[in-house]
Amino acid sequence: MKNFKVALLANLKINAPKFEGMAQDQWDDLDSEKTIKSLVEAIRAGGHTCEFLEGNLSLLTTLPSFKPDICFNICEGHFGDAREAHVPSILEMMRIPYTGSKVLTLALSLDKPMTKRVIAFHDLPTPSFQTFERIDEPLAIDMSFPLFVKPSREGTGMGVSRNSIVHDENEMREQISVIIDKYKQPALVERYIEGREVTIGFVGNLLGPVAHRLPDDETARRIQAGLHFFPPMEVDLSPFTETDTVYSNRLKVDLADKLNYLCPAPISEEMKADLNWLAAAVFRVTGALDVSRVDFRLDMHDNYKPYILEINPLPGLSPVISDLVIEAAGEGIGHTELVNMILETALKRYALI
Ligand SMILES: Nc1ncnc2c1ncn2[C@@H]1O[C@H](COP(=O)(O)OP(=O)(O)O)[C@@H](O)[C@H]1O
Ligand SMILES: [Mg+2]
Repeated sequence: MKNFKVALLANLKINAPKFEGMAQDQWDDLDSEKTIKSLVEAIRAGGHTCEFLEGNLSLLTTLPSFKPDICFNICEGHFGDAREAHVPSILEMMRIPYTGSKVLTLALSLDKPMTKRVIAFHDLPTPSFQTFERIDEPLAIDMSFPLFVKPSREGTGMGVSRNSIVHDENEMREQISVIIDKYKQPALVERYIEGREVTIGFVGNLLGPVAHRLPDDETARRIQAGLHFFPPMEVDLSPFTETDTVYSNRLKVDLADKLNYLCPAPISEEMKADLNWLAAAVFRVTGALDVSRVDFRLDMHDNYKPYILEINPLPGLSPVISDLVIEAAGEGIGHTELVNMILETALKRYALI
């Protein structure tokens, strides 16, 4: 393949702004130097020229000077309710191609309630929910305990712990107030889905043109050609049942290398086909591109019925520990190959190869 000039755009944890009163997990979703180094090496191993550029306003000078053919974008952004969409907006204004989803999808998917409204509109299964902008808003009558309280616009399990599962109105108000105070954003309260934790990662694009909506007819053909699904991964939370029955910030950040990841997950072929289809459907209705990971909970009280929790159009790419990396490895695809699969998917989409 032709040699491309690739700028790796990311937000390094050590470059993140500091400010008074910031939460101790404020930048937990940003990347380490180790991850950046491995991504640059992976892209170079794919035969390309690659440099890392910090994804902030310095891009206004670093990009015109580096002149990349394409950017490999994994920027999480720093501030605001659409922070993941900031760098892609700059790239579109400069008319520079980039990997992964675009502005609208990144802004949407960062906001879990908004994404759930789109998902629910298409009759895809997601836990029933209510958002709380204020602590004292009345609870909707169709919401029954236990419920799950989390931030509307965070990732990496931020604000998620065993305390997120609430059993009565007092516990719920307490947790809503923690989320609103700490993360300065509405709290998302969902039906608590007790059961298994499965995530589906994939690379590719639906062979178009495919409308960003689903057919009304449930028996219609499941359109997913063009997507390469990795084997489903289950996070085995059974060793943690005393402390964490959910995939919490503590597990994702402090204990990531001690977790038992089952990949491929021990689920039936039929369940796997359903999860892949639901993942493709979410990817489609949210207009995602090139790569994504869709998180599910399987309800143990309802025959393991799958519920969509969220779509991650910028899934973590840390070697060894990130969910998507583990999923690719489940099929014998290493980190270098995975990174180049994503890059090639974007190059094809822009008709550069
Ligand atoms: N409604 C829910 N019921 C049960 N567990 C949940 C629910 N929502 C979130 N969780 C747990 O919290 C974890 C993190 O939630 P998620 O919405 O995927 O946010 P993040 O962006 O932090 O990954 C999930 O992987 C799951 O273990
Ligand atoms: Mg998640």
